[in-house]
Amino acid sequence: MHKQTRFAALCLALVLAAATLVAAQQTIVSPGVHPISGRRYAQTMSYLGADWLDRSERVQEEEPDVALDALKLATGASVADVGAGSGYMTVKMARRVGPNGKVYANDIQPQMLTLLKQRLDREKLTNVELVLGTFDDPRLPASTLDLILMVDVYHEFSQPQAMLRRMRESLKPDGRLVLLEYRKEDPSIPIRPDHKMSVAEAKMEVEAEGYTLATVDERLPRQHILVFTKN
Ligand SMILES: C[S@@+](CC[C@H](N)C(=O)[O-])C[C@H]1O[C@@H](n2cnc3c(N)ncnc32)[C@H](O)[C@@H]1O
Repeated sequence: MHKQTRFAALCLALVLAAATLVAAQQTIVSPGVHPISGRRYAQTMSYLGADWLDRSERVQEEEPDVALDALKLATGASVADVGAGSGYMTVKMARRVGPNGKVYANDIQPQMLTLLKQRLDREKLTNVELVLGTFDDPRLPASTLDLILMVDVYHEFSQPQAMLRRMRESLKPDGRLVLLEYRKEDPSIPIRPDHKMSVAEAKMEVEAEGYTLATVDERLPRQHILVFTKN
């Protein structure tokens, strides 16, 4: 091969290799960024840290009963705890909707559902159905739910748009989708920024999938209560 042709071929190969490297790096460096808000998704909290969900300080930090009071769950309602973890909120919801109501407790980690099952057995609750979901589908029944609650969960979704579309299909026409998220607007709240959400971010992302932000309730010490309705 002519010397100049060989040099041109070498240059072309180098350019192609550099372009491939840049593309690969972008995939690694930006694994999950919301296409509308630009928010980086948080990593899923492993079941190995499930003890943290039951820490005693949580009562003061999150006031879970005050949060549920705000939502006024009706006796007999059908509700879902999406990203239920080990069931800290599930059991409280199950007691509130009562034996004629139903709680679908969903998570993507089977180990979390095993812990949740043990908790339900201890508490002798029989109105909870466990649902193993996937990253893009909570596998909830269609047009059934009065309320879907996500406590410290939404920011972890790696496919939030797909999840929101599926959950929308599971809500009744007047059903509510509720996010409890640590306030990103307040830097003094001691949680990593990617595990917090601002009202503006949540509104932008959730409303894009066919919901309206109906109320922003700030009665909790650290978290927003964001209630969305279906358009
Ligand atoms: C920080 S924990 C909160 C658990 C529980 N809501 C609570 O308040 O104790 C977040 C949970 O969300 C779950 N999660 C993350 N992505 C999910 C998805 N796409 N669908 C369902 N659960 C998900 C994780 O497996 C984890 O159990």
